[in-house]
Amino acid sequence: MRSLAVFYSRTGVTKKAMHSVASMLRCDIEEIVDQKERSGIFGYLKSGREAMMKSIARIERAKKDPADYDMIIIGTPVWAHNMTPAVRTYIMKYKEQLHNVAFLCTQGGSGGEKVMKSMQELCGKPPRAALILRTKEVMDGTDAEKLKEFINKLR
Ligand SMILES: Cc1cc2nc3c(=O)[nH]c(=O)nc-3n(C[C@H](O)[C@H](O)[C@H](O)COP(=O)(O)O)c2cc1C
Repeated sequence: MRSLAVFYSRTGVTKKAMHSVASMLRCDIEEIVDQKERSGIFGYLKSGREAMMKSIARIERAKKDPADYDMIIIGTPVWAHNMTPAVRTYIMKYKEQLHNVAFLCTQGGSGGEKVMKSMQELCGKPPRAALILRTKEVMDGTDAEKLKEFINKLR
């Protein structure tokens, strides 16, 4: 089965988790690039507000065509208990090309369950597997067991 790990990450946490997924699954990976400046406190505030409003982002055109893959693993940080605008936009744009999906999100503390539900609704199909990780466990590497379990469900 051909898989693609697609993610958005503002500060590198989701990026780290998704790179682990891609290397464990030996699959392709693509970072979604949001063209909006989101650094600093103002970036944080406007990002939270936009996520809450379910706003669309201006994202760069994907380099890899999701239609070429049997499975797309989508990764997003949790923002204000919502998926990021970049991931929302990617799903809306490529929905028809997403044959099978799996979801991963990273969060400081809470909101992941709600994000998983909204991603399922937006994709219009249940995920093969879903994983919610805390920022801390991604950064200190204690997510290894959870990642292994997640990968096993995708194989
Ligand atoms: C705008 C914004 C809103 C956030 N809202 C939440 C939240 O509702 N719940 C939570 O647990 N973490 C929240 N976080 C923390 C991130 O989800 C967490 O730090 C994540 O691992 C960051 O991933 P990244 O480094 O890939 O961007 C928020 C972070 C940002 C920037």
